[in-house]
Amino acid sequence: MYKAIIAGLGKYLPDNVVTNNDLKKVMDTSDEWIVERTGIQERRHIIKGSGDTTASMGAEAAKIALERAQCAAEEVDLILFATLSPDYYFPGSGVLVQELLAIPDCPAMDIRNQCSGFVYALATADQFVRTGMYKNVLVIGSENHSGGLDMSTRGRNVSVIFGDGAGAALVTRYDGNDDRGILSSHLHSEGKHAEELSLIGPSTNRWVPQIMEENDPEDTSYYPYMNGQFVFKNAVVRFSEVIKEGLLQNQLAAEDIKLLVPHQANLRIAQFVQKKFGLGEDQVYNNIQRYGNTTAASIPIALTEAWEEGRVKQGDLVVLAAFGSGFTWGSSIIKW
Ligand code: UT7
Repeated sequence: MYKAIIAGLGKYLPDNVVTNNDLKKVMDTSDEWIVERTGIQERRHIIKGSGDTTASMGAEAAKIALERAQCAAEEVDLILFATLSPDYYFPGSGVLVQELLAIPDCPAMDIRNQCSGFVYALATADQFVRTGMYKNVLVIGSENHSGGLDMSTRGRNVSVIFGDGAGAALVTRYDGNDDRGILSSHLHSEGKHAEELSLIGPSTNRWVPQIMEENDPEDTSYYPYMNGQFVFKNAVVRFSEVIKEGLLQNQLAAEDIKLLVPHQANLRIAQFVQKKFGLGEDQVYNNIQRYGNTTAASIPIALTEAWEEGRVKQGDLVVLAAFGSGFTWGSSIIKW
């Protein structure tokens, strides 16, 4: 068995900053409500016509990750693209990134696991590297939420949360004799709660012509739906369980964690988890304040920033954990 490490990280955020006060102009909300319930102060929204897309943002983040890993486009063996907001219904965004980065004919695969997408993709990359099938796997998380949100008061419980952006990691085979590497991945899902955080139309369940024919002004099926409190309650339990599972498998304790990078769902969730494991402020990385919840992009964006700030160094124990729609959840335990 080979070992896999993250050899390079990158991120891309659209320039356009949308503050809580900006949102007040289009819906009944307040800076106080949003900050108190979520911790979010601002997020990025793509400006229409800017040319930013899910794939293009992913490609920009990937370029940086490849450069930092000193990996040429021709050396990429597999592209894994995690998103819930792909450019097209089909094909996936992975092939679009392949074209944008002029990566030759390696396989490209989209991963549909929403907020847990990056953790699922990282686990998939790790397996391909471990078996020796591939050496360099480009893992991307990218989301373009803003164009598809209900920006009226009706959709405020969801639309104030989500932001656009992308992050990427180059996962590569590591031949060193030390204990570096992705130590383990822990993945779960529970389909019985699929509709609690979902976007059900347009889809094969609700084709566009049907939506158009009904022409119902009250129809919200093509906006994301979230049963907020139910999701919150499940999130705090699953985050805690899956971090514990990862620590136990590796015979590690919470105090061994150098940095926990949780999916940026809600600052209150991250703070709950921090308290539960008795972690210090310096052991948890949060940037939801500036970017909102960017679902599959949130962990790679946060991890990139943490690395850029010198908070992730060789030999550190880094824990990633996510929970989201599906429900799906997971963790990665990494010796950096
Ligand atoms: O990333 C995937 C996983 N996602 C999550 O983990 C998110 C989990 N859920 C949450 O983070 C929280 O449930 C929310 C932040 C989404 C909502 O917070 P909450 O404390 O659960 O609020 P709520 O939905 O129960 O709403 C409380 C009140 C309601 O008013 P009434 O009925 O009490 O009069 C809402 O209408 O707040 C109202 N409200 C708002 N008010 C101002 C809902 N959204 C807003 C808003 N601004 N944006």
